[in-house]
Amino acid sequence: MTGRLEGRIACITGAGSGLGRAMAIRFAEEGATVAAQDLRWEAADETLHLLNGDGHRAFAGDVSDEAAMGAVFAEIYGAYGRLDIQVNNAGVDRLPGDGFDEMLAGEGPQISLMDHGAFIRMLAIHVGGTFLCTREAVKLMDRGGSVITLSSIAGLAGWGPVHYASAKGAILGFTKAACRELGAMGIRINAIAPGVIDTPMTAGVDEALLAPLVMMTPLGRKGTAEEIAATALYLASDESSFTTGQWLSPNGGLITI
Ligand SMILES: NC(=O)c1ccc[n+]([C@@H]2O[C@H](COP(=O)([O-])OP(=O)(O)OC[C@H]3O[C@@H](n4cnc5c(N)ncnc54)[C@H](O)[C@@H]3O)[C@@H](O)[C@H]2O)c1
Repeated sequence: MTGRLEGRIACITGAGSGLGRAMAIRFAEEGATVAAQDLRWEAADETLHLLNGDGHRAFAGDVSDEAAMGAVFAEIYGAYGRLDIQVNNAGVDRLPGDGFDEMLAGEGPQISLMDHGAFIRMLAIHVGGTFLCTREAVKLMDRGGSVITLSSIAGLAGWGPVHYASAKGAILGFTKAACRELGAMGIRINAIAPGVIDTPMTAGVDEALLAPLVMMTPLGRKGTAEEIAATALYLASDESSFTTGQWLSPNGGLITI
């Protein structure tokens, strides 16, 4: 049986862990050749060892760094000559100076303890990184393509600290506006806004903060990285060929808007 992504070239940022790694594995199972990008080259390289098939490559760089991303996409072009799928997945939920620890210590609401620099850095990674990687990726999509952005229930409904929720909300606006510009090139762009998913990111969050969210989730559990990879596969493949500018929120029913 032919895979749903047979012959496609897919770049996934943040592919060295969690959702990005699960997407890389699933996409490769479906026949894609994966450009696994991460801030940490060793992590991206580790992902390569988990992938079916040949031709996958690891790329290092910070998605918020314009020069670094220019170099990564030039390397991708050199290796593959084009790109069909771009997943803007790289991200963090905590940063030095964001007041999280002080908030946990009872010093006040996180917003009042957060440095301006931490707020701006969060936007630079998520929104700036999504912009830079999309801009560079679409230059390589000479036969149309699919771009996937990663929002969150934080962006949809404010579950999460203000810097993270602001960044994830902005990604939804980016996705909707970009769909209008990219449609004529045969490029679709859609967002995934996951609920609480079991990955190294959420493993780093105090269970006492996550437990109430999981309790309010009708399916009564966290999601798995593989479940988000399945949503990404749908958006990357031709099965979603008339879907663009939309968001899908695999969240176990926590949010139903
Ligand atoms: N896990 C969840 O519950 C959840 C829910 C909603 C949205 N998300 C989003 O999904 C995406 C993946 O999350 P995850 O849970 O797999 O996290 P993770 O921490 O397991 O993996 C994130 C990866 O991104 C990489 N990364 C971080 N900053 C980077 C940068 N500046 N440049 C390049 N790579 C960078 C990290 O090295 C890491 O390998 C993130 O955008 C996150 O905000 C996660």
